[in-house]
Amino acid sequence: MINRIILNETSYFGRGSREKLPEEIKARNLHKALLVTDNGLLKTDIVELVMRTLEKASVGYVLFSDIHPNPSVKNVQDGLKVAKEYNVDCVVAVGGGSSIDTAKAIAVIMTNPENEDVVSLETATTKNKAMPLFALPTTAGTAAEVTINYVITDESRTKKMVCVDPHDIPAVAIIDPELMQGMPQNIAATTGMDALTHAMEGYITKAAWLMTDMFHLNAMSLIYKNLEKAANDKDANAIDQVGYAQYIAGMGFSNVGLGIVHSMAHSLGAYFDTPHGLANALLLPHVLRFNGKVCPDLFRNMGNAFGLEMNGLSDEEAVNKVADAVKDLAIKLHIPQTLKEIGVPKEMLPTLAEQAINDACTPGNPREVTKEDILAIYQEAYE
Ligand SMILES: NC(=O)c1ccc[n+]([C@@H]2O[C@H](COP(=O)([O-])OP(=O)(O)OC[C@H]3O[C@@H](n4cnc5c(N)ncnc54)[C@H](O)[C@@H]3O)[C@@H](O)[C@H]2O)c1
Ligand SMILES: [Zn+2]
Repeated sequence: MINRIILNETSYFGRGSREKLPEEIKARNLHKALLVTDNGLLKTDIVELVMRTLEKASVGYVLFSDIHPNPSVKNVQDGLKVAKEYNVDCVVAVGGGSSIDTAKAIAVIMTNPENEDVVSLETATTKNKAMPLFALPTTAGTAAEVTINYVITDESRTKKMVCVDPHDIPAVAIIDPELMQGMPQNIAATTGMDALTHAMEGYITKAAWLMTDMFHLNAMSLIYKNLEKAANDKDANAIDQVGYAQYIAGMGFSNVGLGIVHSMAHSLGAYFDTPHGLANALLLPHVLRFNGKVCPDLFRNMGNAFGLEMNGLSDEEAVNKVADAVKDLAIKLHIPQTLKEIGVPKEMLPTLAEQAINDACTPGNPREVTKEDILAIYQEAYE
Protein backbone atom coordinates (compact mmCIF):
# COMPACT_ATOMS: atom_id res chain seq x y z
CA MET A 1 0.00 0.00 0.00
CA ILE A 2 1.37 3.40 -0.99
CA ASN A 3 -0.02 6.57 0.56
CA ARG A 4 0.59 10.10 -0.66
CA ILE A 5 0.60 13.35 1.29
CA ILE A 6 0.65 16.73 -0.47
CA LEU A 7 1.02 19.88 1.63
CA ASN A 8 2.01 23.53 1.11
CA GLU A 9 5.67 24.36 0.48
CA THR A 10 5.59 26.64 3.53
CA SER A 11 2.95 27.55 6.08
CA TYR A 12 2.90 30.07 8.91
CA PHE A 13 0.74 30.11 12.01
CA GLY A 14 0.16 32.83 14.54
CA ARG A 15 -1.30 36.23 15.13
CA GLY A 16 0.45 38.74 12.89
CA SER A 17 1.92 36.02 10.64
CA ARG A 18 0.52 37.89 7.60
CA GLU A 19 3.70 40.00 7.91
CA LYS A 20 5.55 37.01 6.36
CA LEU A 21 3.66 37.43 3.08
CA PRO A 22 5.93 39.99 1.32
CA GLU A 23 9.14 38.11 2.07
CA GLU A 24 7.65 34.87 0.69
CA ILE A 25 6.59 36.70 -2.48
CA LYS A 26 9.96 38.37 -2.89
CA ALA A 27 11.88 35.15 -2.18
CA ARG A 28 10.23 33.74 -5.30
CA ASN A 29 11.25 36.77 -7.32
CA LEU A 30 7.63 37.74 -7.90
CA HIS A 31 6.51 41.32 -8.29
CA LYS A 32 2.83 41.78 -8.94
CA ALA A 33 -0.05 39.96 -7.30
CA LEU A 34 -3.71 39.56 -8.10
CA LEU A 35 -5.28 40.12 -4.67
CA VAL A 36 -8.43 38.00 -4.58
CA THR A 37 -11.09 38.59 -1.92
CA ASP A 38 -14.86 39.21 -1.74
CA ASN A 39 -16.90 42.38 -1.45
CA GLY A 40 -18.20 41.50 2.02
CA LEU A 41 -14.65 41.30 3.34
CA LEU A 42 -13.72 44.54 1.63
CA LYS A 43 -16.19 46.28 3.94
CA THR A 44 -14.24 45.07 6.98
CA ASP A 45 -10.69 46.15 7.83
CA ILE A 46 -9.31 42.65 7.15
CA VAL A 47 -8.25 43.10 3.54
CA GLU A 48 -6.87 46.50 4.46
CA LEU A 49 -4.51 44.79 6.93
CA VAL A 50 -3.08 42.62 4.15
CA MET A 51 -2.93 45.49 1.65
CA ARG A 52 -0.97 47.55 4.17
CA THR A 53 1.49 44.66 4.63
CA LEU A 54 2.05 44.49 0.87
CA GLU A 55 2.37 48.25 0.47
CA LYS A 56 4.84 48.56 3.33
CA ALA A 57 7.09 46.10 1.52
CA SER A 58 6.49 47.69 -1.90
CA VAL A 59 4.85 44.60 -3.40
CA GLY A 60 2.53 45.61 -6.25
CA TYR A 61 -0.99 44.24 -6.45
CA VAL A 62 -4.29 44.63 -8.26
CA LEU A 63 -7.54 43.94 -6.43
CA PHE A 64 -10.30 41.57 -7.60
CA SER A 65 -13.29 41.14 -5.29
CA ASP A 66 -16.30 40.29 -7.43
CA ILE A 67 -16.88 36.91 -5.81
CA HIS A 68 -20.14 35.39 -4.64
CA PRO A 69 -20.14 32.85 -1.76
CA ASN A 70 -20.31 29.46 -3.56
CA PRO A 71 -18.30 31.08 -6.39
CA SER A 72 -19.34 30.66 -10.01
CA VAL A 73 -17.62 30.01 -13.32
CA LYS A 74 -18.24 33.68 -14.17
CA ASN A 75 -16.45 34.81 -10.99
CA VAL A 76 -13.39 32.87 -12.12
CA GLN A 77 -13.58 34.25 -15.66
CA ASP A 78 -13.89 37.83 -14.41
CA GLY A 79 -10.87 37.41 -12.14
CA LEU A 80 -8.91 35.83 -14.96
CA LYS A 81 -9.54 38.87 -17.13
CA VAL A 82 -8.08 41.17 -14.48
CA ALA A 83 -5.09 38.89 -13.93
CA LYS A 84 -4.27 38.93 -17.65
CA GLU A 85 -4.91 42.61 -18.14
CA TYR A 86 -2.50 43.56 -15.36
CA ASN A 87 0.02 40.89 -16.19
CA VAL A 88 0.30 39.55 -12.64
CA ASP A 89 2.90 36.93 -11.74
CA CYS A 90 1.30 35.59 -8.56
CA VAL A 91 -2.05 35.38 -6.74
CA VAL A 92 -2.82 36.30 -3.13
CA ALA A 93 -6.13 35.08 -1.70
CA VAL A 94 -7.59 36.69 1.42
CA GLY A 95 -10.91 35.24 2.46
CA GLY A 96 -12.94 32.14 3.09
CA GLY A 97 -13.18 29.10 0.84
CA SER A 98 -15.01 31.11 -1.81
CA SER A 99 -12.16 33.57 -2.32
CA ILE A 100 -9.42 30.96 -2.02
CA ASP A 101 -11.16 28.53 -4.40
CA THR A 102 -11.69 31.26 -7.00
CA ALA A 103 -8.02 32.23 -6.65
CA LYS A 104 -7.01 28.58 -7.13
CA ALA A 105 -9.00 28.28 -10.36
CA ILE A 106 -7.53 31.55 -11.67
CA ALA A 107 -3.98 30.49 -10.75
CA VAL A 108 -4.44 27.12 -12.45
CA ILE A 109 -5.81 28.63 -15.66
CA MET A 110 -3.02 31.23 -15.82
CA THR A 111 -0.55 28.39 -16.39
CA ASN A 112 -2.98 26.03 -18.16
CA PRO A 113 -4.77 28.32 -20.65
CA GLU A 114 -6.37 25.39 -22.47
CA ASN A 115 -8.76 25.17 -19.48
CA GLU A 116 -9.93 28.77 -19.64
CA ASP A 117 -13.53 27.65 -20.17
CA VAL A 118 -13.29 26.72 -16.42
CA VAL A 119 -15.85 23.89 -16.77
CA SER A 120 -13.24 21.51 -18.22
CA LEU A 121 -11.30 21.80 -14.93
CA GLU A 122 -13.75 19.40 -13.31
CA THR A 123 -12.24 16.44 -15.14
CA ALA A 124 -8.97 17.86 -16.48
CA THR A 125 -5.51 16.55 -15.75
CA THR A 126 -3.67 19.84 -15.89
CA LYS A 127 -0.13 19.94 -17.26
CA ASN A 128 1.44 22.72 -15.23
CA LYS A 129 1.66 23.84 -11.64
CA ALA A 130 -0.57 26.82 -10.87
CA MET A 131 0.84 30.33 -10.78
CA PRO A 132 2.30 30.78 -7.26
CA LEU A 133 -0.57 31.25 -4.85
CA PHE A 134 -0.44 32.67 -1.32
CA ALA A 135 -3.53 31.94 0.77
CA LEU A 136 -4.65 33.71 3.93
CA PRO A 137 -7.89 32.23 5.29
CA THR A 138 -10.33 34.50 7.12
CA THR A 139 -12.77 31.72 8.07
CA ALA A 140 -12.01 28.61 10.11
CA GLY A 141 -12.92 26.99 7.89
CA THR A 142 -12.67 25.14 4.70
CA ALA A 143 -8.88 24.64 4.86
CA ALA A 144 -8.84 25.56 1.16
CA GLU A 145 -5.40 27.06 1.86
CA VAL A 146 -3.92 23.56 2.23
CA THR A 147 -6.17 21.36 0.09
CA ILE A 148 -5.70 20.15 -3.45
CA ASN A 149 -9.38 20.85 -4.18
CA TYR A 150 -11.47 23.79 -5.20
CA VAL A 151 -15.21 24.01 -5.65
CA ILE A 152 -16.79 26.17 -8.35
CA THR A 153 -20.49 26.34 -9.21
CA ASP A 154 -21.37 25.73 -12.84
CA GLU A 155 -24.64 27.59 -13.00
CA SER A 156 -25.52 26.24 -16.45
CA ARG A 157 -25.75 22.74 -14.94
CA THR A 158 -26.76 23.85 -11.39
CA LYS A 159 -23.75 21.93 -10.13
CA LYS A 160 -20.90 22.47 -7.71
CA MET A 161 -17.85 21.13 -9.50
CA VAL A 162 -15.35 19.58 -7.10
CA CYS A 163 -12.03 19.99 -8.91
CA VAL A 164 -9.23 17.84 -7.53
CA ASP A 165 -5.78 18.77 -8.78
CA PRO A 166 -2.44 18.66 -6.94
CA HIS A 167 -1.33 21.54 -9.19
CA ASP A 168 -3.67 23.95 -7.42
CA ILE A 169 -2.24 23.77 -3.90
CA PRO A 170 -1.18 27.18 -2.59
CA ALA A 171 2.61 27.47 -2.35
CA VAL A 172 2.25 29.31 0.95
CA ALA A 173 -0.54 29.23 3.54
CA ILE A 174 -0.66 31.86 6.28
CA ILE A 175 -3.01 31.12 9.15
CA ASP A 176 -3.22 34.41 11.02
CA PRO A 177 -6.11 34.18 13.52
CA GLU A 178 -6.27 37.98 13.68
CA LEU A 179 -7.90 37.75 10.26
CA MET A 180 -10.55 35.40 11.74
CA GLN A 181 -11.23 37.29 14.96
CA GLY A 182 -13.94 39.52 13.48
CA MET A 183 -16.08 36.78 11.94
CA PRO A 184 -19.78 37.28 12.74
CA GLN A 185 -21.17 34.54 15.05
CA ASN A 186 -23.07 32.71 12.31
CA ILE A 187 -20.05 32.55 10.00
CA ALA A 188 -17.70 31.39 12.77
CA ALA A 189 -20.27 28.76 13.79
CA THR A 190 -21.04 27.34 10.36
CA THR A 191 -17.49 27.41 9.00
CA GLY A 192 -16.30 25.76 12.24
CA MET A 193 -18.88 23.00 11.72
CA ASP A 194 -17.55 22.58 8.17
CA ALA A 195 -14.10 21.99 9.68
CA LEU A 196 -15.54 19.49 12.17
CA THR A 197 -17.25 17.70 9.27
CA HIS A 198 -13.91 17.53 7.42
CA ALA A 199 -12.25 15.96 10.47
CA MET A 200 -15.03 13.42 11.04
CA GLU A 201 -15.69 12.46 7.40
CA GLY A 202 -11.94 12.38 6.74
CA TYR A 203 -11.43 10.08 9.74
CA ILE A 204 -13.98 7.48 8.64
CA THR A 205 -13.48 7.78 4.87
CA LYS A 206 -12.34 4.66 3.01
CA ALA A 207 -8.79 5.82 2.25
CA ALA A 208 -7.98 7.06 5.79
CA TRP A 209 -4.71 5.77 7.23
CA LEU A 210 -2.29 6.21 10.13
CA MET A 211 -1.10 9.71 9.33
CA THR A 212 -4.44 11.22 8.34
CA ASP A 213 -6.02 9.62 11.46
CA MET A 214 -3.53 11.58 13.52
CA PHE A 215 -4.54 14.85 11.87
CA HIS A 216 -8.27 14.19 11.98
CA LEU A 217 -8.50 13.01 15.60
CA ASN A 218 -6.53 16.01 16.81
CA ALA A 219 -8.52 18.41 14.67
CA MET A 220 -11.91 17.11 15.84
CA SER A 221 -10.81 17.21 19.47
CA LEU A 222 -9.69 20.84 19.19
CA ILE A 223 -12.76 21.94 17.25
CA TYR A 224 -15.25 20.15 19.48
CA LYS A 225 -13.70 21.63 22.62
CA ASN A 226 -13.19 25.19 21.34
CA LEU A 227 -15.80 26.04 18.74
CA GLU A 228 -18.54 27.23 21.09
CA LYS A 229 -16.16 29.61 22.87
CA ALA A 230 -14.67 30.77 19.57
CA ALA A 231 -17.98 31.46 17.83
CA ASN A 232 -20.24 32.54 20.70
CA ASP A 233 -17.77 34.28 23.03
CA LYS A 234 -15.08 35.39 20.55
CA ASP A 235 -12.49 33.96 22.95
CA ALA A 236 -9.12 34.70 21.32
CA ASN A 237 -7.40 31.50 22.46
CA ALA A 238 -10.33 29.38 21.22
CA ILE A 239 -10.26 31.20 17.87
CA ASP A 240 -6.55 30.36 17.56
CA GLN A 241 -7.23 26.69 18.33
CA VAL A 242 -10.05 26.37 15.79
CA GLY A 243 -8.00 28.31 13.23
CA TYR A 244 -5.13 25.82 13.49
CA ALA A 245 -7.42 22.80 13.83
CA GLN A 246 -9.25 23.53 10.59
CA TYR A 247 -5.85 23.56 8.83
CA ILE A 248 -4.89 20.27 10.52
CA ALA A 249 -8.16 18.74 9.27
CA GLY A 250 -7.26 19.99 5.78
CA MET A 251 -3.86 18.28 5.96
CA GLY A 252 -5.84 15.08 6.38
CA PHE A 253 -8.95 15.17 4.21
CA SER A 254 -7.26 16.80 1.24
CA ASN A 255 -5.16 13.66 0.95
CA VAL A 256 -7.84 11.00 1.55
CA GLY A 257 -11.24 12.46 0.65
CA LEU A 258 -14.55 12.91 2.46
CA GLY A 259 -18.02 11.35 2.28
CA ILE A 260 -21.69 11.97 1.63
CA VAL A 261 -22.20 14.85 4.07
CA HIS A 262 -20.21 16.82 1.53
CA SER A 263 -21.95 15.25 -1.48
CA MET A 264 -25.33 16.20 -0.03
CA ALA A 265 -24.15 19.68 0.99
CA HIS A 266 -22.86 20.34 -2.52
CA SER A 267 -26.34 19.72 -4.01
CA LEU A 268 -27.88 22.12 -1.50
CA GLY A 269 -25.25 24.73 -2.35
CA ALA A 270 -25.82 24.31 -6.10
CA TYR A 271 -29.63 24.50 -6.00
CA PHE A 272 -30.30 26.82 -3.05
CA ASP A 273 -27.01 28.61 -2.46
CA THR A 274 -27.04 27.16 1.06
CA PRO A 275 -23.85 28.26 2.88
CA HIS A 276 -21.52 25.27 2.80
CA GLY A 277 -20.92 25.03 6.55
CA LEU A 278 -24.61 25.35 7.35
CA ALA A 279 -25.48 22.51 4.96
CA ASN A 280 -22.81 20.28 6.53
CA ALA A 281 -23.80 21.09 10.11
CA LEU A 282 -27.42 20.26 9.42
CA LEU A 283 -26.71 16.96 7.67
CA LEU A 284 -23.77 15.68 9.72
CA PRO A 285 -25.63 13.99 12.64
CA HIS A 286 -27.96 12.18 10.21
CA VAL A 287 -25.12 10.88 8.05
CA LEU A 288 -23.11 9.87 11.13
CA ARG A 289 -25.99 7.64 12.29
CA PHE A 290 -26.15 6.10 8.79
CA ASN A 291 -22.39 5.50 8.58
CA GLY A 292 -22.00 4.35 12.19
CA LYS A 293 -23.37 0.93 11.29
CA VAL A 294 -20.17 0.00 9.43
CA CYS A 295 -17.49 1.52 11.67
CA PRO A 296 -18.67 1.71 15.30
CA ASP A 297 -15.12 1.38 16.67
CA LEU A 298 -14.10 4.54 14.86
CA PHE A 299 -17.03 6.26 16.55
CA ARG A 300 -15.66 5.19 19.94
CA ASN A 301 -12.37 6.85 19.02
CA MET A 302 -14.18 10.00 17.90
CA GLY A 303 -16.15 10.06 21.16
CA ASN A 304 -12.90 9.74 23.11
CA ALA A 305 -11.37 12.57 21.05
CA PHE A 306 -14.34 14.73 22.07
CA GLY A 307 -13.71 13.78 25.71
CA LEU A 308 -17.02 11.86 26.05
CA GLU A 309 -17.37 8.84 28.34
CA MET A 310 -17.57 5.92 25.90
CA ASN A 311 -16.94 2.94 28.22
CA GLY A 312 -19.64 0.31 28.47
CA LEU A 313 -21.68 1.54 25.51
CA SER A 314 -23.06 -0.80 22.84
CA ASP A 315 -22.08 -0.06 19.23
CA GLU A 316 -25.38 1.65 18.59
CA GLU A 317 -25.16 3.71 21.78
CA ALA A 318 -21.63 4.79 20.91
CA VAL A 319 -22.67 5.98 17.45
CA ASN A 320 -25.72 7.80 18.81
CA LYS A 321 -23.71 9.45 21.56
CA VAL A 322 -21.30 10.96 19.05
CA ALA A 323 -24.08 12.03 16.66
CA ASP A 324 -26.04 13.58 19.56
CA ALA A 325 -22.95 15.47 20.73
CA VAL A 326 -22.50 16.96 17.26
CA LYS A 327 -26.16 17.94 17.07
CA ASP A 328 -26.06 19.51 20.55
CA LEU A 329 -23.02 21.54 19.56
CA ALA A 330 -24.79 22.82 16.44
CA ILE A 331 -27.82 23.79 18.54
CA LYS A 332 -25.61 25.69 20.99
CA LEU A 333 -24.20 27.48 17.95
CA HIS A 334 -27.77 28.47 16.89
CA ILE A 335 -27.53 26.58 13.59
CA PRO A 336 -30.88 25.60 11.97
CA GLN A 337 -31.65 21.91 12.29
CA THR A 338 -34.03 21.11 9.43
CA LEU A 339 -34.09 21.57 5.67
CA LYS A 340 -37.63 22.93 6.00
CA GLU A 341 -36.40 25.71 8.26
CA ILE A 342 -33.89 26.87 5.63
CA GLY A 343 -36.54 26.93 2.91
CA VAL A 344 -35.72 23.81 0.88
CA PRO A 345 -38.88 22.64 -0.97
CA LYS A 346 -39.65 19.01 -0.14
CA GLU A 347 -40.37 18.09 -3.76
CA MET A 348 -36.74 18.93 -4.62
CA LEU A 349 -35.27 16.20 -2.42
CA PRO A 350 -35.17 13.54 -5.21
CA THR A 351 -33.35 15.98 -7.50
CA LEU A 352 -30.83 16.74 -4.75
CA ALA A 353 -30.31 13.02 -4.13
CA GLU A 354 -29.80 12.35 -7.84
CA GLN A 355 -26.98 14.89 -7.93
CA ALA A 356 -25.44 13.89 -4.59
CA ILE A 357 -25.04 10.24 -5.55
CA ASN A 358 -22.85 11.36 -8.48
CA ASP A 359 -20.75 13.81 -6.44
CA ALA A 360 -16.97 13.41 -6.30
CA CYS A 361 -17.12 12.86 -2.52
CA THR A 362 -19.55 9.91 -2.63
CA PRO A 363 -17.07 7.12 -3.43
CA GLY A 364 -15.13 7.95 -0.23
CA ASN A 365 -18.10 7.28 2.03
CA PRO A 366 -17.35 4.40 4.43
CA ARG A 367 -20.75 2.76 3.90
CA GLU A 368 -21.95 1.80 0.44
CA VAL A 369 -24.78 4.10 -0.44
CA THR A 370 -27.59 4.25 -2.99
CA LYS A 371 -29.62 7.17 -4.29
CA GLU A 372 -32.52 5.89 -2.20
CA ASP A 373 -30.36 5.95 0.96
CA ILE A 374 -29.40 9.55 0.27
CA LEU A 375 -33.03 10.50 -0.35
CA ALA A 376 -33.99 8.85 2.96
CA ILE A 377 -31.34 10.90 4.78
CA TYR A 378 -32.57 14.14 3.18
CA GLN A 379 -36.11 13.19 4.21
CA GLU A 380 -35.00 12.50 7.77
CA ALA A 381 -33.31 15.92 7.88
CA TYR A 382 -36.33 17.65 6.37
CA GLU A 383 -38.38 18.35 9.51
N1 LIG B 1 -11.21 23.93 -1.40
C1 LIG B 1 -11.66 23.14 -0.45
O1 LIG B 1 -10.98 22.20 -0.06
C2 LIG B 1 -12.99 23.43 0.16
C3 LIG B 1 -13.40 22.72 1.30
C4 LIG B 1 -14.64 23.00 1.83
C5 LIG B 1 -15.45 23.97 1.26
N2 LIG B 1 -15.05 24.65 0.15
C6 LIG B 1 -15.88 25.69 -0.50
O2 LIG B 1 -15.65 26.93 0.17
C7 LIG B 1 -16.81 27.76 0.05
C8 LIG B 1 -17.24 28.25 1.41
O3 LIG B 1 -16.22 28.99 2.04
P1 LIG B 1 -16.40 29.56 3.52
O4 LIG B 1 -17.29 28.67 4.28
O5 LIG B 1 -15.05 29.81 4.05
O6 LIG B 1 -17.20 30.93 3.32
P2 LIG B 1 -17.13 32.06 2.19
O7 LIG B 1 -15.76 32.24 1.69
O8 LIG B 1 -18.21 31.76 1.21
O9 LIG B 1 -17.53 33.34 3.03
C9 LIG B 1 -18.83 33.45 3.58
C10 LIG B 1 -19.10 34.88 3.99
O10 LIG B 1 -18.30 35.21 5.11
C11 LIG B 1 -17.68 36.47 4.91
N3 LIG B 1 -16.42 36.44 5.68
C12 LIG B 1 -15.38 35.60 5.50
N4 LIG B 1 -14.44 35.82 6.45
C13 LIG B 1 -14.89 36.82 7.23
C14 LIG B 1 -14.37 37.50 8.37
N5 LIG B 1 -13.20 37.17 8.91
N6 LIG B 1 -15.09 38.52 8.89
C15 LIG B 1 -16.29 38.86 8.36
N7 LIG B 1 -16.85 38.24 7.30
C16 LIG B 1 -16.16 37.23 6.74
C17 LIG B 1 -17.51 36.60 3.42
O11 LIG B 1 -17.46 37.94 3.04
C18 LIG B 1 -18.77 35.91 2.90
O12 LIG B 1 -19.84 36.81 2.82
C19 LIG B 1 -17.88 26.90 -0.60
O13 LIG B 1 -17.97 27.20 -1.98
C20 LIG B 1 -17.36 25.49 -0.39
O14 LIG B 1 -17.86 24.56 -1.33
C21 LIG B 1 -13.83 24.39 -0.39
ZN1 LIG C 1 -16.38 21.37 3.58
